[in-house]
Amino acid sequence: MIKIKAPHEIEAMRGAGQITAAVFERLAEAIQPGVTTAELDDIAARFIRSNNASCSFWHYNGYPAHICTSVNGQVVHGIPSKQVILREGDIVSVDIGVCYRGYHGDSARTFPVGQISPEAARLIRVTEESFYEGLRQAHTGNRVFDIGAAIQSYVEKNGYSVVRSLVGHGVGSSLHEDPEVPNFGTKGRGARLMAGMTLAIEPMVNQGTYHVNTLSDNWTVVTADGKLSAHYEHSVLIRDGEAEILTTC
Ligand code: MF3
Ligand code: CO
Repeated sequence: MIKIKAPHEIEAMRGAGQITAAVFERLAEAIQPGVTTAELDDIAARFIRSNNASCSFWHYNGYPAHICTSVNGQVVHGIPSKQVILREGDIVSVDIGVCYRGYHGDSARTFPVGQISPEAARLIRVTEESFYEGLRQAHTGNRVFDIGAAIQSYVEKNGYSVVRSLVGHGVGSSLHEDPEVPNFGTKGRGARLMAGMTLAIEPMVNQGTYHVNTLSDNWTVVTADGKLSAHYEHSVLIRDGEAEILTTC
């Protein structure tokens, strides 16, 4: 069942989204060669809690940290660790969930660590652009797969692949709600988009094959070929025109 949010629910989601966006601003300064992903987790958790909010991912299905930090060939759900020291040239995907007044904001982006290769920078750029291609289709009257079809077409035109086994989702009083929002598929299919739906649109884009594996920690998803992956996600509100991005300042 896809929930249509009432105005007071949307207000809470804007609040959650603003905090989420502010965490990214704080982390952007901290992401430098030499920082550990555990330090990033700590900065994010403190910031979120100091804003009268909680970390949506903490203990979600047993997840053992506050944010996800996925380095280079890790796609999503990398667990922050004192052992993971970011190095010049790495890319790190940071995924953050904030719960505020009972509603979630869910957002992700991939950061360069110091100077990165032109190819890694292009992957990050195309991933972000693919989100906006999807966003353009996210309005009343269109259908869920119109979003994924636009993302897939843009990504593949640029020589990359979209991950199939993980998808975007509805978001609201639960972190994951109906519908699933795949980053691929045939336009014209799926549920019709209606004003007041709130969706997390989140392309995961691989440099090589779209196939992925899960590490023995049961969380970290990695590319099957070891090539780079990037992630870009916002929680958005469907309306008559282009969707409103909720996870922004
Ligand atoms: N943004 C992620 C998603 O939508 C949430 C991470 S799941 C967690 O799947 F378990 F790590 F919290
Ligand atoms: Co999500």
